[in-house]
Amino acid sequence: MSKLWGGRFTKSAEEWVDEFGASIGFDQELVQEDIEGSLAHVAMLAKCGIISDEEATKIKEGLQVLKQKAENGELEFSVAQEDIHLNLEKQLIDEIGPVGGKLHTGRSRNDQVATDMHLYLRNEAREIMVAVRALQEALTKQAADHVETLIPGYTHMQRAQPVSFAHHLLAYFWMLERDYGRLHDAGKRSNLSPLGAGALAGTTFPIDRTYSAELLGFDGIYENSLDAVSDRDFIVEFLSNASMLMMHLSRLCEELILWSSQEFQFIEMDDSFATGSSIMPQKKNPDMAELIRGKTGRVYGNLFSLLTTLKGLPLAYNKDMQEDKEGMFDTVKTVKGSLRIFAGMIETMTVNEGTMAKAVHEDFSNATELADYLATKGMPFREAHEVVGKLVLTAIERGVYLLDLKMEDYQGASELFAEDIYEVLQPHTVVARRNSAGGTGFDQVQSALEKANHILSTNK
Ligand code: ARG
Repeated sequence: MSKLWGGRFTKSAEEWVDEFGASIGFDQELVQEDIEGSLAHVAMLAKCGIISDEEATKIKEGLQVLKQKAENGELEFSVAQEDIHLNLEKQLIDEIGPVGGKLHTGRSRNDQVATDMHLYLRNEAREIMVAVRALQEALTKQAADHVETLIPGYTHMQRAQPVSFAHHLLAYFWMLERDYGRLHDAGKRSNLSPLGAGALAGTTFPIDRTYSAELLGFDGIYENSLDAVSDRDFIVEFLSNASMLMMHLSRLCEELILWSSQEFQFIEMDDSFATGSSIMPQKKNPDMAELIRGKTGRVYGNLFSLLTTLKGLPLAYNKDMQEDKEGMFDTVKTVKGSLRIFAGMIETMTVNEGTMAKAVHEDFSNATELADYLATKGMPFREAHEVVGKLVLTAIERGVYLLDLKMEDYQGASELFAEDIYEVLQPHTVVARRNSAGGTGFDQVQSALEKANHILSTNK
């Protein structure tokens, strides 16, 4: 089959070479964006008098037919036409005749493909932002039910101080809030139109780039034609933001997996997000959480793949850049899928308040409280630390916890101890009193919940 650019060639490549060079196998994902870009381009050509209104109308009608066919899944793509741009152009010409060949006036596939990807990513990033909000909402709902449910807080994976379970969940709300903000910021920075930059140097036609940019909802145009066709920063930024988002999800996955274990039993995954073992009848595996943790690797990989592809490229367009697409599509699909599953997992998980309560009572995570108690009564904190350390040792030797030690044990260690320590040592008191801004104290957690809900309801 003859190529749209075949004039300069005396023989055609063999099919397997065509196949290797073609992107139609994956860039057909951009079919709607490509048509959208063409519609704006043709409107601009007519407005600037570069083609006649009748020609523009014919081309637009042809494009609408292709759009409809694409929606119905009726378009047939061929490797011989290499990519989505040439496939559509060929089909347009088949549909409306030689006038279809005027569509490509004053543009190149180089500015065309960049435009398509801007449109694609703008749309997908918005959908991902909506999915981030849905997960934040699921976290907030669980948090609202568990303000006074306590779990051990850990540092170095050792019990440190008890915290409100809501506080723990809301930590992820704020991580996701930054992810949301990053996607939003990247969108603002990258919403510029490359269309009309031509192959690399602009065009001799009296085009109006701003007009087509406005039609496509861009905030402006790329200032430099070379930059316009060779910039892939917007994809790198997206992949980087997606990587960070997945890193956050993966960390929570790790916790959900731990919490579902026999050793913790803090939560139980709903059956719909777990699987069994083909051999061990007792097993209930947190597969979905593991899979999201695993998929984080491929999202990072896509980021590194593109960074590496770009690092040695001279200006302007190079065919290497065709490699920007599959990783981007894969990341979009992976992130959307992961967020959707995640919201479901959080909404449906069972929180075992009993196991959590038992855990916070059976440890030494209230020891800081005792040291603070002495310090409040005037003992230098360093000394108080030492005194309490010894009490912890005594308790360990006796196989009990701090609340089990007798008043005489306490007074033997320091005369500053009084009866009220038994109240001070209660995990509930320990948490309630951590009322510094952003702390786990219940008042703080309540106000954090209000802030979170405000963000969700105003979308800011
Ligand atoms: N399929 C190409 C890509 O995805 C489109 C741009 C091709 N431009 C060119 N001059 N070969 O990058």
